[in-house]
Amino acid sequence: MSLRTHDCGALRTDHVGQTVSLAGWVNSYRDHGGVIFIDLRDRAGVTQIVFHPEHAEAHSLADKLRNEDVVWVQGACVAREAGMANPKLPTGEIEVQGDKVEILNKAHTPPFTPDDAANVGEETRLKYRYIDLRRPRMQQILKTRHRVTKIMRDYFDQNEFYEVETPFLCKSTPEGARDFLVPSRLQAGAFYALPQSPQLFKQILMVAGLERYVQIVRCFRDEDPRADRQAEFTQLDLEMSFVDTEGVITMVEGVLRRVWKEVLDVEVPPIRRMSYADALTRYGSDRPDLRFGMELVDIADLAAKTDFGVFKGALDKNKDGMVKAIRVPGGGTMTRKETDALAEWSKGFGAKGLAVTKIVSGDGAPKLETGIAKFLAPIADELIKRMDAQEGDLLCFAADRSKVVHRVLGELRVKLAKERGMIKEGQWEWVWIVDFPLVEWNEDEKRWDSLHHPFTAPHPDDLDKLESDTAVVRSQAYDIVLNGSELGGGSIRIHQPAMQMDVFKLLGISPDDAREKFGFLLDALQYGAPPHGGLALGLDRIIMHLTGTTNIRDVIAFPKTQNGADLMTEAPSLVANAQLQELHLRTVMPQKAPATPVG
Ligand code: AMO
Ligand code: AMP
Repeated sequence: MSLRTHDCGALRTDHVGQTVSLAGWVNSYRDHGGVIFIDLRDRAGVTQIVFHPEHAEAHSLADKLRNEDVVWVQGACVAREAGMANPKLPTGEIEVQGDKVEILNKAHTPPFTPDDAANVGEETRLKYRYIDLRRPRMQQILKTRHRVTKIMRDYFDQNEFYEVETPFLCKSTPEGARDFLVPSRLQAGAFYALPQSPQLFKQILMVAGLERYVQIVRCFRDEDPRADRQAEFTQLDLEMSFVDTEGVITMVEGVLRRVWKEVLDVEVPPIRRMSYADALTRYGSDRPDLRFGMELVDIADLAAKTDFGVFKGALDKNKDGMVKAIRVPGGGTMTRKETDALAEWSKGFGAKGLAVTKIVSGDGAPKLETGIAKFLAPIADELIKRMDAQEGDLLCFAADRSKVVHRVLGELRVKLAKERGMIKEGQWEWVWIVDFPLVEWNEDEKRWDSLHHPFTAPHPDDLDKLESDTAVVRSQAYDIVLNGSELGGGSIRIHQPAMQMDVFKLLGISPDDAREKFGFLLDALQYGAPPHGGLALGLDRIIMHLTGTTNIRDVIAFPKTQNGADLMTEAPSLVANAQLQELHLRTVMPQKAPATPVG
C-alpha cells in the first residue's frame, strides 16, 4: 500500500475538500506567528502544508521539522486565502492542513539544500550527489534521459532492431583512445580492456545474421574529461546489414526526428550534407556550427600582393601555407586590449598571432583603420569587397599552415559568436559531414592513421588511388553534427577480408599484427559477411542539447571529475595487497619530485 494518496505536484482547486496524504522532504520551513508552513517536496513538485496551533500534536511535531527531514502528512486540501496563492507553483492555489504528521526519517543539517545547490561548488555537489540530485532541475534532466532512451528503444523496436548486449571484458578495440585495463586473475599477466565501443562485436553480429542491432551501451575511454567528454559515457550504438550510407542516415535521422519532436516539440527537417573538405574550408572545422555566419574567406591571393611579412612568410615557407580571414560584424567596438587578448588566445591553438583591422567610415565608403591597416593599403578595396565588410566590422586574419589557420579561425568564430551574443536561442542547425578522407598523415609517427577507424570502407570511386594517392582517398564515413557539436559518427564497413588486409597494410599494421589483434574479425569476414554499416550517437551529448546544459556532468547521475574521480564513493582508491597478489600485480608508484633541501 502506498503511504500517500497524491504526489506533491498533484493537488489543484479540484481537490479542495478531500482528505489527502503526502510524503516527501521538507523543502523549507516558516513560522508565521505560531502558524507553521512547510513546503513539502517530492520528485513531482512542492505542496505547502500548514500547521495550525489548534492541532496541537501535529503542530508540536511540525515545530521540530527541519530541511530535508522525510515526513508524512495527512489533512484536508483547502484553498489558500485570497491573495495568498503562489502563481509560480502548479499547486499554488491550494494548501494541505497538516492534521497528522509523522517524521519518517530525521535528516542531519545538510551541507547545502537543493534550493541553494546552484550556488555551491561542484565538488561539494558531487560529494553529496544524492542531495544535488534532489534539485528539480537535475530530476528533470534524469527524467528526460529516461524518456529519450524509451523513445529510442521503441523506435528501433518498431524498425525491427534487436537490442543485444556485448561484453565489457574485452580485447581492446582500437578507437584511438587509451584503454582501461582489467587484470585477469585466472590468467596471470593478462588483461582485459573495457570497450571503447562495441565496434567489432556489432560487426560480428552482422556476420552472425542479426541484420539490425542496437544497444544503449556504456563505453570507456581513458581520456581527460572535458566539458562534453567523460571517460565513461553512453552510446546509442547501431549496425545494419545490406545498407548503404543513405540507409543508415535515414534510420538515424528518423530517431533524432522522433526524439526532438516528442521531447521538445521541435521539427527536425531533412538534414543537409556537407563534405569534410567544404566544412574545413568554410568553417575551419569538421563539426561546423552553422547557427551563424562568419565564414572563413581565403585571401591568399590578396595577401601575396602586400608587404606584410607575416602573410608573405606563411605563404612562402609552407607548402600548404594559407591566409584566411573572418569578418566579425560589429567587432569594431572591440578595444585594443580585447583584440590583443584574442591574439594571445590564438597562440593556444598553435598560431603565432592574430592580425586584426577595423572597418571605419571613409569618404562615402568603408575603409580600413587600426591594426595592420597600413600593410593592407594596396589591397584595401578588394579586401573590403571580398569580405563584404561594413563600417563597424572587425577583420581577423590568420596566416600559417592550413591546419593551424583552420583550427584558429574555426575556434575563433565560435568563441566570438558566443561572446558577442550572435547565437539566438532555440536554433537547431543540423548537418551531416560526409566524404571524410580515409586516412590522415601522422607527422610524429610518420604513418597514416584512420580518420574514423580501421574498419571503415574506402569510397568505391577512390579504390584505385589507395596506394598511389592515399591522401585524397575518401571513406564512407559520416558524422552527424548539431550546433557545432559532434553528436555521432559511423560508416559503411569493410566486409571483405582482402580489403580489410589492404587497409591494415596502408595503416602500417603488418599481417602478423593484424592476425594477432583482429584474427577473429578476419576469420569472421571469411565466413559470409554481409555488406554492413552503422553509427553511434553520444547519448550524453544528446541529453545535453535537449536539456540545454553545457556540462556533461549534469546529464550523468554519478559522473567523474576532471581527475577521473567519483567524489562520492572516492573511486579510484588503493586496494589491499592481498587483492593485488591475487591478480599477480605489483604497483610501481611514480617517483616523487625530490624534496627541496631546507636552509
Ligand atoms: P565515435 O568514437 O565517433 O564512434 O563515437 C561516437 C559518438 O560517441 C560520443 N562520444 C563521447 N561522448 C562523451 N564522452 C566521450 N569521451 C565520448 N567519445 C565519443 C560522441 C561521438 O560522436 N564505434 C564508432 C561508431 C561507429 O563507427 O559505428 C564510435 O565509437 O558523440
Ligand atoms: P609581428 O610582426 O609578430 O609583431 O605581428 C604583427 C601582427 O600580426 C600582430 O598583430 C600579430 O598578432 C599578428 N600575427 C603574427 N603572426 C601571425 C600569423 N601567423 N597569422 C596572423 N597574424 C599574425
